[in-house]
This record gives sequence, structure tokens and C-alpha cells, in this order.
Amino acid sequence: MKKTWGGRFKKPTDPQVEAFTESISFDHRLGLFDIEGSLAHVQTLVKSKLLTASEGRKLALGLLKVKKLILAGKLPLYSSLEDIHTAVETALTQIVGPLGGKLHTGRSRNDQIATDFRLFLRHAVRESVQSGNQLIETLAKLSLQEKDTLMPGYTHLQRAMPITLGHHLAAYALMLTRDMERFLSAWDRANALPLGSGALAGTNHAFDRALTAKLLGFKSVLQNSLDAVSDRDVYVDFLSACAVTQMHLSRMSEDLILWASTEFGFIEMDDAFSTGSSLMPQKKNPDVAELVRGKTGRIYGNLMGLLTVLKGLPLSYNRDLQEDKHFVFDSTDTVTSSLKTMNGFVGSLKFNREKMTRAADRDLTLLATDLADVLVKTGVPFRVAHEVVGRVVFYCIEKSKRLQDLSDFELKKLSDLFPRGTAGSLSAHFSVNQKKAVGGTSPQNVVKQNRVLKLEVSKIKKRLSKI
Ligand code: ARG
Repeated sequence: MKKTWGGRFKKPTDPQVEAFTESISFDHRLGLFDIEGSLAHVQTLVKSKLLTASEGRKLALGLLKVKKLILAGKLPLYSSLEDIHTAVETALTQIVGPLGGKLHTGRSRNDQIATDFRLFLRHAVRESVQSGNQLIETLAKLSLQEKDTLMPGYTHLQRAMPITLGHHLAAYALMLTRDMERFLSAWDRANALPLGSGALAGTNHAFDRALTAKLLGFKSVLQNSLDAVSDRDVYVDFLSACAVTQMHLSRMSEDLILWASTEFGFIEMDDAFSTGSSLMPQKKNPDVAELVRGKTGRIYGNLMGLLTVLKGLPLSYNRDLQEDKHFVFDSTDTVTSSLKTMNGFVGSLKFNREKMTRAADRDLTLLATDLADVLVKTGVPFRVAHEVVGRVVFYCIEKSKRLQDLSDFELKKLSDLFPRGTAGSLSAHFSVNQKKAVGGTSPQNVVKQNRVLKLEVSKIKKRLSKI
């Protein structure tokens, strides 16, 4: 295949070098974005009189034919073509003849790839946010449904205080709303056009770059050509949003893996979303959640990988930048499929409410802080109350008695600070209902959080519709 840059070379490229330097095997994924960018470029060339209107029309029609080839999976993708840009231009030239050679006027593959990849980024942000929103909606729905379900809340993975399952689920939903904002704001910063920057210094032609930007839906035009062709910071932002999202999914997975164990027994996984063992007939495994957790390593790696590629690159374009695609493609695919699969997994879970409530209710000392607060309400300093209740806890463990089952007599014996009527006033249900202040685990607050979540989801959808 003749190289677009072959003029100054006397020897053909070594086959090993050709295979080593090609990007077409992966950047063919940018085909449709390349067409989109080229169509806008053609219009800008016509406006700046570098193409006649009829040439512009012929090129545009030719590009639409190449688009058809791409959609039919028929665009030739030989590695000798090097990259998707050359593949498109070559196919175009075969269709429209030598006129195809005018498409690259005032353009370099450096500003072209920067543009194609930003168009891809917009698509990737849309995909991730749409999938994320669906998971948030599922979690919000379940959270409302489980607003009254009691369970033990944990710190250090030790039972700490009673909470509602609804509160636990809403926590993850709220975390994910921030993740969606991260994606959207990554796009806000990426929403500027590189095309028109040429190879590195700009072009000799008076392009109406604002027109190109408008045609491609970019909000503004990048103001410095060196910056435009050489930075990849917006993908670092995107990969970082991916990393944080996947971290949240991974933590949620860990909770669900624990809950699915016989030791916890809090959830039952749907058959369609769990897997078995080839050896142990009884097994039903949480592979979905484990893989989401496992893939997090790769997602972090992609962020670190791109940062490392960028570190130490002199301005402006360097071929190292070609490596950026692996990280971004992989993270987009992985995060989106994790969000979608988790949505199905979580949406099909059966919560073992009885077991969760029992774990909260039968625990001997889960209400220790509530008991301390009984004393606090009578004016006892919290530190003193803590000490006194510590003794009560010790007594309960020794006697294998629940704290809420102690009689007034037993409590008085342990400390005369306890007011009469303390006995029998405490329960896990009472405890969660007390947590009414903003942010607490009470069912009323879960309802309030649900309203917040609905508002956030609709805000995200609105922003999404504008990108
Ligand atoms: N495949 C290249 C990339 O992804 C396209 C730009 C090539 N530019 C060049 N000067 N060789 O970065």
C-alpha cells in the first residue's frame, strides 16, 4: 500500500515496523467519528474557498459512501494502511478519484486524531452516564422499598449500630450520582475543537474554526495548536472518573459478596446472575460482583498507564500518544459493562429481610450507643455515659443477655444514673427512628434521600441531553 507520506522515502517500510507502528487494528473503532470530522472539515474548506461547492458536495457524498462501508463492516483495514484516517482517505479516493487528495488540505492526522478522539469521548461519556443512571434508579427504587428493613450497620466490619437497608442502598446511589457528575464535567473540559491546529503550529489558511466547532457540536475552539495536538489531559479526567466509579462499584460488590455468603445470608442471588462450580454441585457463586471488583485493577491501571505515557513528553505531538486509545477504549467498555451488569445483578437480588432484621435485633449489644444517649439526655456527660454503658456491655456479654432486655433493677445495679423506665424503651426499630436529623438512617430520611436522588437523576439526564 502506498504511504501518504511516502514521497521522501526510498525504501519500503520494514514489515516488522509496519506491524509495530500500525494503529488500525484498534483505531478502526473511530471510523464513524473520523467521517463526522471529515464532513465538517469539507464544509469549512468550502467556506474558506479551498474547495468549490461542487468539489465539497462530491467529497461529502464520497465520505457518506465510506460511512456505508464502515457500517457494513466492509472498509478495508490492512495494517499497511497504518491508521483509520488513511483507511478512510484511501477508500474515499477510490470512490471520488484524485479529488480525495484535497480532503487533507490544512489538516494533519495530529489534529484529526485529537478531534476524532474527542468525538469518541463524548460518546463514551454518554454511554457511561446512561448506564450509571440506570443503576442509580434501580438502587433508588430498592432503597425506597427497603426503607423500613432493619440490618446491622458496620464499621471495621464489626456490628456497630442498627441501620435501614434503604439507607445502605441509597449511600451507593448517591456516590454514583457524583460519579456521573465526574463524567459530565470531564466532558465539559473536553468540549472544545482541536481541528484547525494542523500538525502543531496551526494552518496557513483562514479557516472558520468556529464553523467546524458548531458543525461538530463543540462549545468552543482550542486556542493553542500545540496544546490541541499534544495534550491528553481530558482523557486522564475521563479515566479518573472511570476509576472512581469502578472503585464505588467494587465496594458495593464487596458488600454483596459478603451478604451472599452463608455466614451473612442477607441476600439471595438470582440464578440468571450467578454462576456455579464445575466441581462442587452445591455452589452458587457471586462471580458478577467478583469480576466487577477484579476489573477495578485494570481500570486503575489504565489511568496510571495514560499518566505514565504522558509524563515527560516534549511538546508537541509524539507517536507515544497513539497508545492513549487502549486505555480509554478498555475503560469505557469495562465501566459501561460493569454498570449494566451490576444493574441486572442488584435489580434481581432477593433481600432476606428476616435474617437482616434478626441480625440487628438479636445482637446483644448493638444498642449500646442508644443506651448511652439515654443517659446523655438526662444531662450525663457523654464520656461518663460511655464508661457506664461499657460496663453494661460487659455484663450483657457475660450473661448472654440483650442490652434491651435488662430490667430497670439490673441497670440500677450497674449504675444509679439510669432513669427509671430505661428498661424496655430500646429496640433496633426505635434506634433507627431516632436518627431523624439530616443524613441519618431513619426511614423518613430514606424517603427524603429518594427525593434528592430523583432530582439528581433528572439533573444528570438534562445535562446528558445537552452534550
Ligand atoms: N495513529 C496516530 C495516533 O493515534 C494518528 C496520528 C499520527 N500522526 C503522525 N504524525 N504519525 O496518534
